[in-house]
Amino acid sequence: MHDLNNVRKTEHIQIINSREGIDRDKNYFDNIILKHRALPEINLNDIDTGIEFMRKKLSFPLLISSMTGGDNEMVAKINRNCALAAQETGVAMGVGSQRVMFSSPGARDSFAIRRYAPNALLFANLGAVQLNYGFGLGECREAVHAVAADALYLHLNPLQEAIQPEGNVDFSGLAGKIGAIAEQLSCPVIIKEVGAGIADDDVELLMQNNIHYIDVAGAGGTSWSLIEEFRSNNNYGLGTQFQDWGIPTPLALTMLEKFKQRITVIASGGIRSGVDMAKSVILGASLCGIAKPFLKPAMESAEAVISVIEKLKQEFKVAMFLTGVKNVKSMQNNKKLILKWDEGL
Ligand SMILES: Cc1cc2nc3c(=O)[nH]c(=O)nc-3n(C[C@H](O)[C@H](O)[C@H](O)COP(=O)(O)O)c2cc1C
Repeated sequence: MHDLNNVRKTEHIQIINSREGIDRDKNYFDNIILKHRALPEINLNDIDTGIEFMRKKLSFPLLISSMTGGDNEMVAKINRNCALAAQETGVAMGVGSQRVMFSSPGARDSFAIRRYAPNALLFANLGAVQLNYGFGLGECREAVHAVAADALYLHLNPLQEAIQPEGNVDFSGLAGKIGAIAEQLSCPVIIKEVGAGIADDDVELLMQNNIHYIDVAGAGGTSWSLIEEFRSNNNYGLGTQFQDWGIPTPLALTMLEKFKQRITVIASGGIRSGVDMAKSVILGASLCGIAKPFLKPAMESAEAVISVIEKLKQEFKVAMFLTGVKNVKSMQNNKKLILKWDEGL
């Protein structure tokens, strides 16, 4: 229980729940106005919000983004409630970093969520930087096995590590190591950030290293810089200085448009409604991840998580109706659905 990796995850949740401003609430998606159709020429009831991702059917393109796990009843409950809700509603889910289960074996059970979500699309998770600190293919395989996951997320979090006094800051030579894992693992590897975005230069490097899935996890939502600042309080105020650092999610999506034939893109970072989801799909995303808005409901019950998902789904469906699209395929990458985008932040 005193393992630092375990304590850290619990502290993150306490800070996120108790501090204002952690959710940057930048609403970058509000700068995009979609073209309203007064004559959509479709029946709302005929709209198909369903998608297929990694050969699994989803009721709409939602992912409960990676958040937590550890040797602690509260975090186990969060994962259980999210998994039950993902199964019930037909959406995808990722677990938080599984590094903790290698130092606290008791944490492993909190990641064993396949029992609650036998059919859901589930993603395991490790920090890519751990590949420079002793982790390798064995740990990646174990992480996937513990979740019985469909894919492995390797997250990149250089900002967060730089703010943590105990951070792992050696990010040198990682692309090649990521490539070696992707080549040998039996399931896909998805590279994600945690709220600062992934630039086109990084994606070029990742594509050269066997990566075909990117979650931009851009700026605009949860600020890890601030979270780490509140945890440490003694790192020159770096966390406050960098609280808004990063590539806003809509811009990160646009930047990757040129790679659309070669990679599958997931949007996350500050997506707060089904309308934001619709805008993400229009900007090229195949799946939309949301993290913080699920935290409180997941601490309560699976039903509370389900009602957030149902609300998102209704919003997404009405946005489709009002832009005159009948299915997600005709919406994806369809820039004609944008009336105006004021990129001035
Ligand atoms: C409570 C919490 C814990 C998170 N933990 C992780 C994590 O362990 N691994 C990871 O890759 N991302 C983690 N994230 C980041 C999210 O998965 C996501 O990439 C991004 O923050 C978008 O979240 P948002 O919807 O809160 O803005 C976490 C986010 C939150 C809110």
